[in-house]
Amino acid sequence: MTDAPVSKPLLATLKGAKFPVPPVWLMRQAGRYLPEYRALRAEKGGFLTLATDPESAAEVTLQPIRRFGFDGAILFSDILMIPWALGQDLSFGVGEGPRLEPALVDHALTGLQTAPERLEPIYATVAQVAAALSPETTFLGFAGSPWTVATYMVAGHGSRDQGETRRFAYGDEAAFGTIIDAIADMTVEYLSRQIMAGVDAVQLFDSWSGSLSPAQFERWVIAPTARIVAALHDRHPGTPVIGFPKGAGGKLPAYARETGVDALGLDETVDPLWAAASLPRDLPVQGNLDPLVLIAGGPAQDAAASRILEAFADRPHIFNLGHGILQDTPIAHVERLLAFVRRS
Ligand code: CP3
Repeated sequence: MTDAPVSKPLLATLKGAKFPVPPVWLMRQAGRYLPEYRALRAEKGGFLTLATDPESAAEVTLQPIRRFGFDGAILFSDILMIPWALGQDLSFGVGEGPRLEPALVDHALTGLQTAPERLEPIYATVAQVAAALSPETTFLGFAGSPWTVATYMVAGHGSRDQGETRRFAYGDEAAFGTIIDAIADMTVEYLSRQIMAGVDAVQLFDSWSGSLSPAQFERWVIAPTARIVAALHDRHPGTPVIGFPKGAGGKLPAYARETGVDALGLDETVDPLWAAASLPRDLPVQGNLDPLVLIAGGPAQDAAASRILEAFADRPHIFNLGHGILQDTPIAHVERLLAFVRRS
């Protein structure tokens, strides 16, 4: 256990350090539950405008840090920037999920015109945030994992069970493999540029990895993730990569072993005691409070947080939610959680 002040406790934890009080950040901490985010979004006129304006995107990245003093800041962007840079049109309509056109269920990938320059404003955002953050705050970049990103590219929108994409992957393995490879290649470039512009670590969000059978999980989650992690480690030795395969359940030990990720994000369905017993002792873990208990608040929230803190007390642990913070989360509950975790 380390008691001396460390310049970036979250980054140190990703590299294996243990602290009596774990560092904390919350997935999707920059967003709609914050009134200051909603105000800026209304002023700028939409998500994509906000995310591609470095000044605004840097401001949104910093909003939750200013308000709560989290140990980590996550870049304000989206996992769907990669499909946009691969040439699909991207829109976020009010009250509906994101749309990508043309959907690859009925349009070949080769018919798209790649547009990597669409990512340039994001690197400018990274540089602005890196210059503004205080030295104890860890700056996290991110991308979606190829499987999760492919589910949006193929269907053209989000879906409950990713059925269209699973069907496509079985029906035309070669075409699907080409899509996965194109996403993986661009993701390596994208994360590499984020690291060069100033992020300290990166996270791969695999929000839909839970819908795959074991063989498909090996093929479309583990293999491309391992390829991305190896390329990043090769180009940027010492920059940690967090893998977050949501819904992976019993496949987590294989994922941890085979992908080479430096830390593992756990969703709220994972029993922390099982994780503590089943994952390599020195592997840093991140998670895994149920975002819904953060809406309930009160003693239920304290009890759930306590269970996680106890289970991970003697391993490197970053306190987080098991998935993104929900829009109707009361600010006071976030404050209560921070005070509880930090015992202040
Ligand atoms: O604090 C942060 O984490 C900010 C950066 C961030 C966003 N999206 C901003 C955003 C991150 C890390 C994401 C990840 C993301 N985006 C994922 C993986 C994590 C997860 O939640 O599973 C996924 C699947 C997406 C795709 C996406 N983007 C969807 C399905 C939607 C609409 C529904 C929703 O959750 O809001 C978005 C839009 C989006 N991305 C918003 C924000 C703040 C809301 C846009 C708005 O209306 O203002």
